[in-house]
Amino acid sequence: MKVGVIGGTGFYEMRGDEIEVETPYGAVILFYLDEGDREIFFLPRHGKKHVPAHMVNYRANIAAMKKAGVGAIVAINTVGSMRREFEIGSFFIPDDFIDFTCRKSTFFDKEAVHIDMSQPFCPIVRKILIEEAMKKGKVNEGVYVVTEGPRLETKAEINMLKNFAHVVGMTLSPEVILAREAGICYASICIISNYAAGMQEKLDVEEIRRVYEERKGDLMDVVKEALKKIPENRNCGCKYAAERGKL
Ligand code: HPA
Repeated sequence: MKVGVIGGTGFYEMRGDEIEVETPYGAVILFYLDEGDREIFFLPRHGKKHVPAHMVNYRANIAAMKKAGVGAIVAINTVGSMRREFEIGSFFIPDDFIDFTCRKSTFFDKEAVHIDMSQPFCPIVRKILIEEAMKKGKVNEGVYVVTEGPRLETKAEINMLKNFAHVVGMTLSPEVILAREAGICYASICIISNYAAGMQEKLDVEEIRRVYEERKGDLMDVVKEALKKIPENRNCGCKYAAERGKL
C-alpha cells in the first residue's frame, strides 16, 4: 500500500531514495522509503530550494503523489493560533478550512467538476492522526483559515478571522482541495507555533522555527505510527469525490 507524507518548513526527516516524477505541471522530487507493507512517498512541500507558501506548485505536488500511486496523505503544517487556550507547541488537527488564497486550486479547467467539500478531510486518516497525536499530549480540532502570505496577518485581519476559524496558516490550501479532486485520502496535523498577530507582542519567524524544532521528534513519531495504521481498504469515499462531482 502506498502512502504519502507532505512535510512543511523544517520537516525533511523522511529521506529515502530520491525520485523525480514528471507531471503536466512540472517535475517533482519525492523521497521513497520501503517499509514492508507500506511504501512511503515523502514530499517536502516547499521543494529543495524552499519556495515560499504562495509559490509552491501545489498542482504538481499532488499530481506527482497521484502518479506515484499514493492512496492516502498525511500533511504537516505550521499554524498560528487564534485561541488563547490552544497552547504553543500543541497539535491541531483541522476538521474544516476557509480558503482566503488566490491560488490555482483545481485540476479541472476543461470540464465542470464540483467536488463536495462538506467533509474536506478523510475521516479515517483524521481519526488515526488524532488517536496517535493524543498519545503525545493535548490535541485541538477546528477550522484552519488559509491566508495567501507571504506576509503574516494584520491585527485587524486576525480580529475578523478569529470569529470564523481557530488557527491561521498559509499551506493547507489548495493542497487539501487538489488531493480530494485526485481521489486521495488527506488529513493534516498542524503544530501551533505562535499566537496570531495582536495576541502576542510581535511575531518572530525564529520563534516559529524553534517551536517546530522542539516538537519535531513527537511529530515524527505520530506520523510514523499513523502511517502504519491507515487501513488498505477505506470506506470513506474520498476516492470517488471527483466522479461524484461531475456535471
Ligand atoms: N500566520 C500565518 N501562517 C503561520 C502563522 C501565522 O501566525 N504561524 C505559522 N504559520
